[in-house]
Amino acid sequence: MSHTFLNACAMQPTDHTPIWLMRQAGRYQPEYRALREKFSFVELCKRSDLAAEVTLLPVQQMDVDAAILFADILLILEPLGAPFHFTPDDGPRVNQPIRTAAQVDALATDGLRMGGGSAASGSARDGSADDGSAGVRGLDYVLETLRLTRAALPKEKALIGFAGAPFTLASYLIEGGGSKHYAHAKRFMWEDPSRWHALMERISDATITYLLAQLHAGADAVQLFDSWVGVLSEQDYRTFVFPHTQKIFAALPEGVPAIQFGTGNPLLYPAMFEAARRDKGTVMGFDWRVDLRQWADKFPSVAVQGNLDPVAILSGQGVMRAQATRILESMRGRPGHIFNLGHGIMPNMQVDDVRALVDHVHSFQ
Ligand code: CP3
Repeated sequence: MSHTFLNACAMQPTDHTPIWLMRQAGRYQPEYRALREKFSFVELCKRSDLAAEVTLLPVQQMDVDAAILFADILLILEPLGAPFHFTPDDGPRVNQPIRTAAQVDALATDGLRMGGGSAASGSARDGSADDGSAGVRGLDYVLETLRLTRAALPKEKALIGFAGAPFTLASYLIEGGGSKHYAHAKRFMWEDPSRWHALMERISDATITYLLAQLHAGADAVQLFDSWVGVLSEQDYRTFVFPHTQKIFAALPEGVPAIQFGTGNPLLYPAMFEAARRDKGTVMGFDWRVDLRQWADKFPSVAVQGNLDPVAILSGQGVMRAQATRILESMRGRPGHIFNLGHGIMPNMQVDDVRALVDHVHSFQ
């Protein structure tokens, strides 16, 4: 039973299919809602003791095989020099959306540099004196959450760190918030490619520092959330996103599981796989729009993660189990499957239904 998640990432056989769920800590949990009555979301993220408690809850309550760091992809924007705030009904908003080359140039280049030198220059796990001990300036609270969580987490459970992928973060920065058509972001990208690449480079360099620091602080694996990249054509993905994503994956230590996750556009998966490909450790995450086995067979060298439609959890436990069984049956005999949703848990789900899903996946033979 030990290290089920890590073994599956490494394509080793496991005695059950490991499962964790994106957004497994959140408002659907009464304990989380109780904490949110006292603290804002960002306050919770910054209180490492509470963030660690929230990170651990799904493992304690549902016995999922991995905990995912409780934080947000947008937290990196503050040390980058583009602070955001939460609005009551419109979600997070960037205080001053990025619309000009001058604003790109004004973003921090060293805001995430690690104590004593550049993190990108060394292995995350080499334990050398000057790497990681001082943490990532401005995001030390995230690293502390990881350290506290790892110390309390049973050894056989994995801890997953994460970051937002450059496209998803860049489009948030440019749009200033959520968007339907990504009109500002696409225009910014097409109008002046060098300005776009400069922005993507600042984000990806910061992301490399951040992810290496997370691994150093105790994360066993990382996931890059490119939740919004599906709005691009394959051609634009290759021109405007691929080199930056590739640089991030190439900077991660060989063999450490790194999950490439995107939603909305299955046509991008081959290019996303190429960008994430390393000799060892890459995992491909899929949303619910694809037949998981078909795609697992297209990428036979890597583990795959997914891909139950989250709405199945809102459709009654009978339907939910049938949908999950269909995925599990289809993956029979193919090592390297990490069960997950195609996207995150929603606030209106029931803890009992989520626990029933975890139990079902664990008992599937
Ligand atoms: O899987 C995980 O739990 C990892 C942590 C994580 C969160 N958000 C926690 C969170 C991750 C990876 C995200 C991703 C994220 N956050 C994205 C990418 C799109 C996606 O969903 O994959 C974006 C654009 C954000 C920014 C963001 N943060 C929004 C738009 C919101 C408000 C809307 C919402 O869903 O509540 C948040 C808040 C947020 N991020 C919460 C959580 C648990 C809810 C906090 C609360 O209200 O208590």
